[in-house]
Amino acid sequence: MLYQPFILKNITLKNRVVMPPMCMYSAEKDGKVQPFHLVHYGSRAVGGVGLIIQEATAIMPNGRITENDLGIWSDDHVPGLKSIVDMIHDMGSVAGIQINHAGRKAKSGIAIGPSPITYGGDYSIPKEMTLDDIHEVVEAFKNAARRADQAGYDLLEIHGAHGYLIFEFLSPISNKRTDRYKDGKIFLREVVEAISSVWPKEKVLAIRVSAHEYVEHGVTPEMISDAINYVKDLGIDLIDVSSGGNILVKINAYPGYQLELARKVRTLTQLPVIGGGLITDLRMAEHAISRGDADLIYLGRVLLRDPYIVINQAAELGVEIDYPKAYIRGKK
Ligand SMILES: Cc1cc2nc3c(=O)[nH]c(=O)nc-3n(C[C@H](O)[C@H](O)[C@H](O)COP(=O)(O)O)c2cc1C
Repeated sequence: MLYQPFILKNITLKNRVVMPPMCMYSAEKDGKVQPFHLVHYGSRAVGGVGLIIQEATAIMPNGRITENDLGIWSDDHVPGLKSIVDMIHDMGSVAGIQINHAGRKAKSGIAIGPSPITYGGDYSIPKEMTLDDIHEVVEAFKNAARRADQAGYDLLEIHGAHGYLIFEFLSPISNKRTDRYKDGKIFLREVVEAISSVWPKEKVLAIRVSAHEYVEHGVTPEMISDAINYVKDLGIDLIDVSSGGNILVKINAYPGYQLELARKVRTLTQLPVIGGGLITDLRMAEHAISRGDADLIYLGRVLLRDPYIVINQAAELGVEIDYPKAYIRGKK
């Protein structure tokens, strides 16, 4: 099944392998696309990945994880981003982008968050967001979505995971507000509402979530599914299931460690999910799909080591795929 096409709205993935967003910290301070990004995403597209989701791309300068994040806070970013999209399309893959505000984990100016509680380590205490700050961020998400559409992306992924701003609102660990935003789902709903007012209905809208915080009183798969169910009527098509990132805790990671979470979220929301975590053997990806853990599988770090894993392992699994013509003489 892994090498079978997957259709979602008007996009067809040629297989079910996803490159998840991975920050490359390779932009300059202006957040603009560099030649590196074209080579990086282009290589994975040549390598046969069905869907490529571009790294966390900042919706506001003070919402960057670092000063080397890619940016989508200005119309000036659109031509560079479009060159990534065109490259991915030319190489036969589907292009997604993850948009993000890093909240209390931003290291690019004054960090903001739902409450003045630090992530710890060398992170600062964030400024508690006022209602104006909330409004400004919601508008920035909306403008980022409009620019993502202009750049030609097929899929937009809202970063609601890993302890960045949206997740900070959803977690009782980082959200101690007393106003109506004490229910973090309200902030999420405002963001999704703003985005879906500009993101075309025929394109795919996804959200990445951390389905577990691995601590007492933290977010669980049930809580996160409840939040998704609260907004899914606004047009959420796909959930990208990850975990952790909001507090400093050691995660017990082993091959496929987040698949169980993906399965739970899939069951509780009845939406298609992308699952993964330390998967390096595509037989494991195949099993996860046929068992019903996930609809799509992400391969993160292994794709940094081996951009061609999808076409190489196809040969090992005896699956015939469209091999890149220029490389046929190197085929195993
Ligand atoms: C270098 C690097 C950068 C990452 N950046 C992001 C990111 O921008 N957004 C995100 O949601 N996850 C990010 N992640 C998490 C990955 O998308 C993925 O979920 C994680 O690496 C687990 O998958 P894997 O075990 O297959 O690598 C990053 C991971 C790595 C290794």
